[in-house]
Amino acid sequence: MQAVSEWGSRTARIAAAYRARASQRPQAICNDPWASYLVGEEGIALLAAGDLVAPEMELGIAVRTAWLDEAIQRGSVAQVVVLGAGLDTRSARLARPGVRFFEVDHPATQGYKRAALEAVPGYPRDASVFVPCDFERDDFAMALKGAGFQTDLATIVIWEGVIPYLTEDAVRSTFRVLASMLAPESRVYFDYVDHARGADGVADFAGEAGEPFLFKTPDISPLVCGEGFQKVDSLLMTSAQRARTGQDAVNAPFFARWYLAEAVR
Ligand SMILES: C[S@@+](CC[C@H](N)C(=O)[O-])C[C@H]1O[C@@H](n2cnc3c(N)ncnc32)[C@H](O)[C@@H]1O
Repeated sequence: MQAVSEWGSRTARIAAAYRARASQRPQAICNDPWASYLVGEEGIALLAAGDLVAPEMELGIAVRTAWLDEAIQRGSVAQVVVLGAGLDTRSARLARPGVRFFEVDHPATQGYKRAALEAVPGYPRDASVFVPCDFERDDFAMALKGAGFQTDLATIVIWEGVIPYLTEDAVRSTFRVLASMLAPESRVYFDYVDHARGADGVADFAGEAGEPFLFKTPDISPLVCGEGFQKVDSLLMTSAQRARTGQDAVNAPFFARWYLAEAVR
């Protein structure tokens, strides 16, 4: 399982830093106006280091953000659960009447985020229900139910940028718990990689940030369906990015090993 320090996840900060910068580009692919408030000095330093290793990451994170945002926008559900939410601001950006957002994350990351949000003018802090939970120690299904999650309502779960950092056992058990707690036709949107340390700079960079890649696969469908889901559709980042920009990304080898996926309960 991913190492989260007492002051929260470092990879959550760099992801927010990519979203912040991507949102400020002309013809931006994603739009997260709150991200820049949450990055902090450490996020800025990580971004500079990350740019040297994998300059394509900002584009990939922007495409992933937009793809997941659209899944929520077109979904007809009453609940959205963001697992391993990090510095995600979807509950503020995509709020709509009748939809309840839950954010589940490590207490250290969530503590950092909640403190940072206090200082953000105008941020709707009650847009989501915060559920602090250490996946290694706590039962996240029980924590969610305790926070008001309803198992009889169709739900969208977003599990963004987390699976590569987990062991296969942790990935399996999370899908098993999700299959048992989600109403039929609920959907889980996530990303995964077929990527090991040493393949190029991305996995090595995550490892040096103290959060190494532990799980890789070229096709996650057998695992997810084996744990109780009906089907999984995966989309290679290369295709998702080309569809958004109309062009191949220059120097983006990691995109050929990075998948966006939808699992149907
Ligand atoms: C790479 S960050 C992704 C954050 C966010 N989903 C995004 O894409 O910006 C990984 C997230 O997983 C969370 N995480 C890692 N290990 C965890 C654990 N044992 N319990 C709860 N959350 C954990 C971290 O706190 C962090 O927010």
